[in-house]
Amino acid sequence: MKHTKVKDLLNGTKTLHEVKAKGWVRTFRNNQFIALNDGSTINNIQCVVDFENTPDETLKRITTGAAVSVTGTLVESQGAGQTVEIQVTKLEILGDSDPEKYPMQPKKHSLEFLRENAHLRIRTNSFGAIMRVRSTLSFAVHQYFQEKGFFYVNTPIITGSDAEGAGEMFRVTALPFDGTPRTEDGQVNFKEDFFGKETNLTVSGQLEGETYAMALGQIYTFGPTFRAENSNTSRHLAEFWMIEPEVAFNNLADNMDLAEDFIKYVIKYTVDKCGDDLKFLEQRLLDEEKSKPQAERSEMSLLEKLSFVMDNNFKRVSYTEAIDILKSSKPNKNKKFNYIIDEWGADLQSEHERYLVEKHFKCPVILFDYPAKIKAFYMRLNEDGKTVRAMDILFPGIGEIVGGSQREERLDVLLQKIADLGIDEKELWWYLDTRRFGTAVHSGFGLGFERLVLFVTGMSNIRDVIPFPRTPQNAEF
Ligand code: 4AD
Ligand code: MG
Repeated sequence: MKHTKVKDLLNGTKTLHEVKAKGWVRTFRNNQFIALNDGSTINNIQCVVDFENTPDETLKRITTGAAVSVTGTLVESQGAGQTVEIQVTKLEILGDSDPEKYPMQPKKHSLEFLRENAHLRIRTNSFGAIMRVRSTLSFAVHQYFQEKGFFYVNTPIITGSDAEGAGEMFRVTALPFDGTPRTEDGQVNFKEDFFGKETNLTVSGQLEGETYAMALGQIYTFGPTFRAENSNTSRHLAEFWMIEPEVAFNNLADNMDLAEDFIKYVIKYTVDKCGDDLKFLEQRLLDEEKSKPQAERSEMSLLEKLSFVMDNNFKRVSYTEAIDILKSSKPNKNKKFNYIIDEWGADLQSEHERYLVEKHFKCPVILFDYPAKIKAFYMRLNEDGKTVRAMDILFPGIGEIVGGSQREERLDVLLQKIADLGIDEKELWWYLDTRRFGTAVHSGFGLGFERLVLFVTGMSNIRDVIPFPRTPQNAEF
């Protein structure tokens, strides 16, 4: 007999028939009740073992973490907390788990401990829920863009262009460390490297994505990106996943509309599909917040926060307005910010972003028209000659979740910008060709997938929303 997923057993209406389930034992109580989980849902199915007719040897092997197969009759449950249970007639231990050594004991573990056991933490309620939500969110990303007629493009992970300037890069090389080939003037001779040039792991698929948008019209990427920044924060990973749509003929306003609509869609899709997991995560967050001082607790529950984002317009505010708000804000006047804002042109730190979102506007904010000086070279210069058509979306509890812009489509302006920044034009010959042959207004953005998962799950550390986090000094697993 084929086994049935626990989720389907729990949702089924037909009882009194024979079923088989396979999964891992979460707990075994009174030598009789197995709480069995197979990962298909956060809910366990209760399996009632006929202990009088089961050899002691077998009963001893029903330990937390063991893999078992149970066959029996699905019946309406007598106990509270579940609708159906399995009256076991046949039990098979598929894989033992030494209860003395199994790290995932049926008790509360710290998130730090679970990170050290990232290969087993998925067997806890929290991480099962987080990873199912993550999977649903990624499917929603494809569903949204595919429904809208976007094409999915796989931009290279190994890149020969390092002109984006989005962050420090990881080098990709096949050269030896000892006896590295050198040129006559003592530099590393990359001509002898695998690709015959310097290559790195990509920090963004945008530049390649733009070339595709200028042919397919509307594209998106969804892939891994790498940044070697030494930022050990709860919002940064060295390897993270980014979604980058790029659309020909879209201006900055269209770009904002797209980003807002997209975020609302994927959240709604996930709320509709992941009810049980989100309810669990909501309660987890409430419990966690109980240990915080009143002032730091969130006013809304997780599901209320998600509804709030879906139901309200994001506030659109120019950088200049934001600076005025920040300059006259209490924490700025009382020197509570680590970085005091005293003049136009200052780069915003996450403390400022979070002040705007959490204290001032109390809703998601789209900041636009940033000073050209603090943004990338490819952003469209405004008529004022000092701001660019950039936009960042800021979320409560997260800070920046999206960074994007309308792109500079004018070849001469772009060339000047590149020259001013000292970037070698030859490096970008293929990128510049999009401006030489049929250039057009176009826009796009990048959404950090893990930051979205953080928001939707209510977790507070980005290391807890990606299966095997990569951060400075940490590449275990
Ligand atoms: O703002 P960023 O650097 O934008 C770009 O890379 C553009 N090329 C995107 C585009 O216009 N196509 O990064 C985009 C987003 C950020 O808003 C943030 O959510 C996320 O990527 N991000 C990170 N997430 C986790 N760890 C990091 N180290 C991240 N750096 C950026
Ligand atoms: Mg950014």
